[in-house]
Amino acid sequence: MSRLVVVSNRLADPRRPAAGGLAVALGETLNRTGGLWFGWSGTVDPGGTPGEGALQVRQAGAVTLATVDLCREDHASYYLGYSNSVLWPVFHYRLDLADFHTADIDGYRRVNRLFARRLRPLLRDDDVLWVHDYHLIPLAAELRALGCRQRIGFFLHIPVPPPPLLAAIPQHEWLMRAFLAYDLLGLQSETDVGHFTQWLGTEAGAKRLDAQHLRAFGATVRVGAFPIGIDVDEFERLGHAAEAMDTFHALRDEYSRRRLLLGIDRLDYSKGIPQRVRAFRELLQRYPENRHSATLVMIASPSRDSVHAYADLRHELEGLCGAINGDYGDLDWMPLRYIHRTVSRRRVPGLCRASAVGLVTPLRDGMNLVAKEYVAAQDPEDPGVLVLSRFAGAAEQLHEALLVNPYDVQGMAATIQAALHMPLAERQRRHRQLMARIRAQDVHWWRRGFLDALDQCEPASASTS
Ligand code: G6P
Repeated sequence: MSRLVVVSNRLADPRRPAAGGLAVALGETLNRTGGLWFGWSGTVDPGGTPGEGALQVRQAGAVTLATVDLCREDHASYYLGYSNSVLWPVFHYRLDLADFHTADIDGYRRVNRLFARRLRPLLRDDDVLWVHDYHLIPLAAELRALGCRQRIGFFLHIPVPPPPLLAAIPQHEWLMRAFLAYDLLGLQSETDVGHFTQWLGTEAGAKRLDAQHLRAFGATVRVGAFPIGIDVDEFERLGHAAEAMDTFHALRDEYSRRRLLLGIDRLDYSKGIPQRVRAFRELLQRYPENRHSATLVMIASPSRDSVHAYADLRHELEGLCGAINGDYGDLDWMPLRYIHRTVSRRRVPGLCRASAVGLVTPLRDGMNLVAKEYVAAQDPEDPGVLVLSRFAGAAEQLHEALLVNPYDVQGMAATIQAALHMPLAERQRRHRQLMARIRAQDVHWWRRGFLDALDQCEPASASTS
């Protein structure tokens, strides 16, 4: 059997619960298959040289972790710059937040080249490579330039916007060519596949060979939707462990006379957090019976805080939350608990289970695994209600959630009110249907689907000419 080599910017020790969706999903995938996980160590070396970084290799159970440090300049231009100030905002439909700084593209290419140079000697002929996310779009092209002929698949965890937004990226043609160096491109949703196909069609004259294959720049790539899932069994185990149970009981005791609403996100402008807070304010305003009874717990873990847009969001949110608590709070009740820290993953199932409503309301999201975790954490006898943005990839699968338009603050408030009053039988029915799909389309289904499709691809040497 071939060895699986996973490459991503962010890694985690697969034996320990990690904080972010991508790292968790990849950890769970590799725990099952074993293999090599390659990426950034997470360390910024202040004295390092651009384009250099020593390789460190260690074993974590069945998984070999191979990482490189980045120097300060590479971290600034590749990670904070091109990845998170150009690709992230544009792919989340936010041209207004993109900073097309010319120097950053050099750092982006340099780090992808560095990753290719460090990874190449570790590869075996029959390895299968699976590269993840927007930081590493040109990695396959760099590996091919070094003579790598193994099958290479790419999975994009973030959304794909409509072609005119993509075409605004000054290097967008170069990006299209970079995508074409892969054998298989996995996207989160059918909407993303549609946008990607249109982009290659209108901007590069790509020909559709059949339902799955596109040809452009003399290369053929297979493109498909592979919606990512969670490891339901693992999450349930976490939910029955002491830390989650303690969290659940502590919250239940403290809020015995109140209803909890919960939001868990990275503090990111794509997550629609200010809109959610405004909707909560509207709920208290329009439906005053919720005053003194509904409490919104919002956990926003710090993220990319040296990028301006993230620092601005933090200030905006602090103002909004302070204003709500000031206007509506009382001696015995604060409407909003805003926590700007990372909460241990072990406590997440307990938090979800104790909450009557889960609010997952991004303006745009590739998938959003918190939506699936919220459902998986519920007690089937008395489940909470998921309020989900129609603009999250998860909305293509989770039809029985209450879908909202996060830009419509009044509509969201009305839906939250409906969620708080949903009869038990309807909550149980929706939960049953959601849970069946989340279980059937879990992280292992996702991995198998992608790797089976990659296995069917012609090796690179045969598909390019
Ligand atoms: C999103 C991205 C991932 C990223 C994660 C955390 O889920 O798709 O690639 O790892 O956010 O962000 P960070 O910048 O801390 O890695």
